[in-house]
Amino acid sequence: MKKLSILFIALAMIATSCGDKKKEDVKKDVEQVNEEVVKESTTTDTASDKDTQLAMGKKLFTDKTCTTCHALDTKVIGPSLKDIVKIYDEKSGNIVKFLKGNADAIVDTDPGQVAIMKANLDGFVKDMSAEELQALSAYMRDAGK
Ligand code: HEC
Repeated sequence: MKKLSILFIALAMIATSCGDKKKEDVKKDVEQVNEEVVKESTTTDTASDKDTQLAMGKKLFTDKTCTTCHALDTKVIGPSLKDIVKIYDEKSGNIVKFLKGNADAIVDTDPGQVAIMKANLDGFVKDMSAEELQALSAYMRDAGK
């Protein structure tokens, strides 16, 4: 019985020391993230708001898989950025409005094509913030001009 309780205490000690180590690791991770945030905010202090927005848009355009179907100047599955910007300029279109699902397609109006893009709008674009959509639009207009 005594042996058993010693074993139990030993196990408990191992378990708590593991717990402490994990806490330490988490603390380190948090510190690292904090450092990165500080670093980033100092760089954005010097960059203009416009540059920050374009960088955000560029990152979203890749992260949100837009690049899978939209290239700069060749049609992949969807129209190129150059074609999109050209039509939006000509027709004074509003990309943010389109992404929010509040404006019809004006670049490629083929129903099959529209359905492909609509699946993105209904699938995940609707969950993006107004700021993110503005950044995407700014990036597209800048890259495709
Ligand atoms: C699975 C392929 C696919 C992905 C991923 C995709 N698109 Fe599209 N996109 C299309 C197709 C196809 C069209 C052509 C139909 C149309 O114009 O609505 C299109 C058209 C567009 C248009 C022009 C709309 C118009 O007025 O005709 C914009 C703007 C656009 N996409 C933005 C985006 C953005 C931003 C993302 C990422 C969040 C994205 N797309 C992701 C396939 C895709």
